Amino acid sequence: MSPPILVDRREQAEQELAREIADLVRGRRRLVLGLATGDTPSGVYRELARMRRDEALDFGRVVTFNLDEFLGLPPDHPRAFERWTEERVFEPLGIPRENRHVPGVDAAHATVPERCAAYELAIREAGGIDLLLLGIGRNGHVAFNEPGSSREARTREVELHPWTREDAATAFGGLASVPERAVTMGVATILAAKRLRVLAFGARKASIVRRALEGPVGPEVPASFLRGHRDLRVWLDREAAAELGTGRRTVRS
Ligand code: GLP
Repeated sequence: MSPPILVDRREQAEQELAREIADLVRGRRRLVLGLATGDTPSGVYRELARMRRDEALDFGRVVTFNLDEFLGLPPDHPRAFERWTEERVFEPLGIPRENRHVPGVDAAHATVPERCAAYELAIREAGGIDLLLLGIGRNGHVAFNEPGSSREARTREVELHPWTREDAATAFGGLASVPERAVTMGVATILAAKRLRVLAFGARKASIVRRALEGPVGPEVPASFLRGHRDLRVWLDREAAAELGTGRRTVRS
């Protein structure tokens, strides 16, 4: 993989990535985007919404696939990723309703495995994901591919790792309210995207960033599998990059 791009302020990474996405939106008849949720990608979505407002960037031909979703929450639950994405991406960017996809929630299929298979099919029928935005969980997860996930995994139901549930506890008003299960794109689904764009910010990601980028590749740290991708770009702020070997840094000022 090419060395991670280091930025002084996360806004620089957010703007660079938003510009790349905007160029693709303008240059293609149709663009298929994979969407992460969480704090990490929020600034990219804000910048894209600004471009829609100020530069008339038109997202009418953009198709989206969310990475993951909790199981057992109604889609309008305040903590459902579908709701999160609606508020920060679908509505502010104007993604047409029929172009939005969230795993595990389509009512046309009765069981979760059927919904997962339908999700994989929908991605294939859309022509694959052109660009997938990713954050990294504190335990090395990508989407909800928790430690132990295989390189070959596809969209499926998973049990959430204790750290993932702990990290979500405040938002849910207590650990007991955090769902125990979720649906996630698999590592193989993620690796099939044409471009992978990863962001990590802040000191609490420093140790997992080192393991993901410099440690052994394997299921212990699912994010490490991303290093096998042909078109991977990783942006880090200085805090997130603090534990990396110095030879591997490219500083962007
Ligand atoms: C969540 C999501 C991931 C996300 C990660 C990091 O649980 N399932 O897709 O990348 O955790 O979240 P944050 O960006 O808030 O640190």
